[in-house]
Amino acid sequence: MRKLPISFLAFIAIVFLITSCSEPGDTGDQETDQTTTQEETTAPEEPATTTDEATAETVQVEITGNDQMKFSKEEIRVKAGQTVELTLKHVGELPVASMGHNWVLLKEGADMEAFAMDAIQAKDNDYIPPAREDDVIAHTKMLGGGETDTITFEAPAKGTYVFLCTFPGHYMAMNGKFIVE
Ligand code: CO
Repeated sequence: MRKLPISFLAFIAIVFLITSCSEPGDTGDQETDQTTTQEETTAPEEPATTTDEATAETVQVEITGNDQMKFSKEEIRVKAGQTVELTLKHVGELPVASMGHNWVLLKEGADMEAFAMDAIQAKDNDYIPPAREDDVIAHTKMLGGGETDTITFEAPAKGTYVFLCTFPGHYMAMNGKFIVE
């Protein structure tokens, strides 16, 4: 009668020990399993997102302007959501006072001609008419021969936009389409 309860208690004690020992272990395993499962679930998504972002993240665009009053591009295509890193390079030799070039991107529906006309009077503001600054998505500085300027901006919504040089008399020869796809 005495031996049985003792061995029974011992048995219970052992079972309790095993249970208490194995419980955290099991929980630990479950946690590890859950973590692994989460990693496995997110792992395939992450590279896909990274790949999308890698192609969509930043696009570098280079456009040049020369002493013949010409841009090297009449059309620039980017994708919606991209960050555009645009470099304007004046590859000519003439000074900014006689052959200045900038790159100005206008909002959809902005009147390029009216903008360019007002820009003539805006020499003090780098040929960006202060009253029409709301029409501008992004713009570089006005450059002379040999100068370069890089600007960074978010591509606007899908659509076709106009870019131009706002130096007096240049916009008709120096404009193009900025297409967001
Ligand atoms: Co120009």
